[in-house]
Amino acid sequence: AGKGKFGPLVGAIDEGTSSARFMIFKAQSFEVVCHHQEEVPQIYPQEGWVEQDPEKILTVVLNCIEGALRKLEELGGRKEDICAIGITNQRESSIVWDKNTGKPLHNAIIWLDMRTSTTVDQLLDNVPNHSRNKNYLKPLCGLPLSPYFSALKLRWLKDNIPDIKEAMEEGTCLFGTVDSWLIWNLTGGPNGGVHVTDVTNASRTMLLNIETLQWDVHLLKFFALPRHILPQVKSSAEVYGYMEVTSLKGVPICSCIGDQQAALVGQKCFTAGCAKATFGTGCFLLYNAGNVPVSSSHGLLSTVAYQFGKDANPVYALEGSVAIAGAAIGWLKNNMSLIDSSGEAEEIAKTVENCGDVYFVPAFSGLYAPYWNQEARGILCGLTEEVQKGHIVRAALEAVCFQVRDILEAMHSDCGVPLAKLKVDGGMTANRLLLQLQADLIGLSVIKPAMVETTALGAAIAAYYAISNFNLESLIGSEMDLVYEPQITEDERDMRYTKWKMAVERSLGWDT
Ligand code: G3P
Repeated sequence: AGKGKFGPLVGAIDEGTSSARFMIFKAQSFEVVCHHQEEVPQIYPQEGWVEQDPEKILTVVLNCIEGALRKLEELGGRKEDICAIGITNQRESSIVWDKNTGKPLHNAIIWLDMRTSTTVDQLLDNVPNHSRNKNYLKPLCGLPLSPYFSALKLRWLKDNIPDIKEAMEEGTCLFGTVDSWLIWNLTGGPNGGVHVTDVTNASRTMLLNIETLQWDVHLLKFFALPRHILPQVKSSAEVYGYMEVTSLKGVPICSCIGDQQAALVGQKCFTAGCAKATFGTGCFLLYNAGNVPVSSSHGLLSTVAYQFGKDANPVYALEGSVAIAGAAIGWLKNNMSLIDSSGEAEEIAKTVENCGDVYFVPAFSGLYAPYWNQEARGILCGLTEEVQKGHIVRAALEAVCFQVRDILEAMHSDCGVPLAKLKVDGGMTANRLLLQLQADLIGLSVIKPAMVETTALGAAIAAYYAISNFNLESLIGSEMDLVYEPQITEDERDMRYTKWKMAVERSLGWDT
């Protein structure tokens, strides 16, 4: 490998909530050579339920690989030069399949799905001393009880789908998050596929002990789930197996990392105290907390950031997860027809000078961090006869920024040190107004790297690290970043944030 025009190459599969892509990078420099992307349809069987067809996820990923390889050839490159493949994925979304036929036993239950609200309620009854404390398991797994995490989805499947319950009892099914499903299929499926996950994805299930990085017997017992259906937990950068399908047969799959953690790596946040926010369907702010898990008393999650190599020290993160960011803009387009495309949001929001005192809390799936209120519902307040659609679109953009401020306030309280700057990435960062509003509303410099495909980049860095052990510090270089500085006064910032908090107050507990 590595004799062609571009030298050695690394491929990254990035399977996100709304689309998948395969990106080919030059090893060493991590310049993008080419990529191919396709959408993955979402299925909404009932209000609050979100599913995807696991076979469709796989087909889309395979199409992306072949599509990118065709582009590579058109550019004069050679697929033989791809020496490593990494995987990064939407986290928590859960799949159960038959290990003999390889067929899924149900659609994937996607992270945003709310069907397990009642499962959470029932499990809260089992918390000792009748305290119904949703943070009861936090010391073990770093997470509060919420429909967001995989254990709840898996428990729902066991309770509600008789075939899955039976397959669990007979030992004929396997469980995995999207990474495990893909790796198992890419390495041979029923004919020798490896059943693994990595510490970052495992840390989102509620079944992994955050200290030992092993599946935890107490957690399994609490959720009444069997150990034998779970994948083996590996580090985020090591050879798990070899490609058995596509024209990349024989290439090692050697990184696996949840998409938000991959973006942290892609943003080169390798030192404690460094943070990034990725604006996609949701918005996820991760703060590198160093080599020991930091427990949050302000609604943040303790999670694994990455572990590069099986004997390496893990790096932990504090995470603030916001369920609805880009999805609010999608809603304005698809449900309200206020805009024709997501790209148009910036233009329409700029038709007004400010939000006209309109506040929009897009709590469509409850509110995640720092509130963790599954009964919260969306609310639009401050409407007057003067309000134009520009105000509403602008309020949706500001909602994303205010949610980031909520997280930063929590991080500050947990860590004691305020952030000096915020690195950003993700699809929504194409919106320059959003980034200016973000700088204004948090009072910090907002930094967007020239290379915004940080998620795929993180997986590529991990994959190449697994086979070459190169020095990660060598990546921190002189990129051309775009910097947005705050342009409003502290008083204005705080006044607007106070209004936002009043709006949030009204949205909490709505669905009770
Ligand atoms: O936790 C869910 C997250 O991993 C999804 O990320 O970018 O697909 O919205 P994204």
